[in-house]
Amino acid sequence: MKKNIIVGQSGGPTAAINASLAGVYRTAKDRGAKTVYGMLHGIQGLLNERYIDLSDHIRTELDSELLKRTPASFLGSCRFKLPGIHEDIEIYKKIFALLDKMDVEAFIYIGGNDSMDTIKKLSDYAIITGHPCRFVGCPKTIDNDLALTDHTPGYGSAAKYIGTSMKEIIRDSYCLEYDKGLVTIVEVMGRDAGWLTGATALAEGEDCDGPDLIYLPEIPFDIINFRDRVEKLLSKKRSVVAAISEGIRDKNGVYICEQGNITNFVDAFGHKQLSGTAAFLANYIAGEIGCKTRAIELSTLQRSASHVTSRVDILEAQQVGGAAVKCADEGDSGKMVVLQRISDDPYQCGTEVKDVHKIANEEKLVPREWVNKEGTYVTEEFVDYVQPLIQGDMAPIMVNGIPRHLISPKELSHYTVPERKKK
Ligand code: F6P
Repeated sequence: MKKNIIVGQSGGPTAAINASLAGVYRTAKDRGAKTVYGMLHGIQGLLNERYIDLSDHIRTELDSELLKRTPASFLGSCRFKLPGIHEDIEIYKKIFALLDKMDVEAFIYIGGNDSMDTIKKLSDYAIITGHPCRFVGCPKTIDNDLALTDHTPGYGSAAKYIGTSMKEIIRDSYCLEYDKGLVTIVEVMGRDAGWLTGATALAEGEDCDGPDLIYLPEIPFDIINFRDRVEKLLSKKRSVVAAISEGIRDKNGVYICEQGNITNFVDAFGHKQLSGTAAFLANYIAGEIGCKTRAIELSTLQRSASHVTSRVDILEAQQVGGAAVKCADEGDSGKMVVLQRISDDPYQCGTEVKDVHKIANEEKLVPREWVNKEGTYVTEEFVDYVQPLIQGDMAPIMVNGIPRHLISPKELSHYTVPERKKK
């Protein structure tokens, strides 16, 4: 590389997203990049000329190791939908003028399917205008729903946390005895894809039966059938634990959480904020059966738990960051790095690059055959697929008994409030 590169993070954070950033930084420097810029809050921040020089933050090997162990997007994130070229050409002119001003030869974006839409549009614009800057996507999402890649960095660590937490919840649920039993409902993220919810099955082993029921968003949810199953289970056991996706919907496509007290927040991509499904179902079951219930929403914890990450995941996240830079340095654009599984046992995985047009805005769902006939649990194939991704640990660097993270850029650590849109 002869000039500068810029990297951004976008969409929901993960516990591995900064390992990709570390991979981008190291590889760019090794390949001769002069300055590695980090856009603050993704493309939205770049549009306001908010960026940093990463060498001011990653000065030593220790900084790099801390970054790999720091959850949430170090650079800040955004959910920003870049308008189409024909909708607003001025925004493209502005971005490319900025890239020219900063002498940027490669633009790397770490994100999920919405973020790949940004890479797609920017690389298309560069082709149309003959601009030499290359645009490459680096996969990230706990949801594991990106097309053409075996899995996404961030998923393995979230799956490990979810499997671990589920096991702990099940243990706890058997301690006390209640007259009519206890029903615990655990709500897991993943709007349309059940990869995370299915990972609750990882709790199952010699020392744990695993959850009793698992409901993915891919399969319509029947609340009466759910109640009947819970009631039947309670006649045999004193505690029932059900894992449900935040995105479960009834046969008409209405989110179950919409039947409760859902907030009305909708993001730039038109996604409704999903929350409260477990609380709604716990109330419903308590009302119907009269037993004690508990609702647990794993929420932010499942994507920010850097104290229980998967070593495989963190190292792969770093690897895809490096591969994205290599791809751009070799002259490719409009591509995303994918993980290609070579074998399960021993687990081996490599990287390739694929056309981002075939990935942006697509969603990879859990195959129907990886869920049982009744739609109430995942199959062995599902568990065999996930298990290699949660192996190994990345021990936190502990200071005073608490994991240490890399100090945030001062531009982000200050309590700054962005300009609010007028209603
Ligand atoms: O994109 C990842 C994700 O964690 C989804 O699983 C979830 O639906 C969404 O982000 C939640 O986003 P937010 O934190 O913006 O509510």
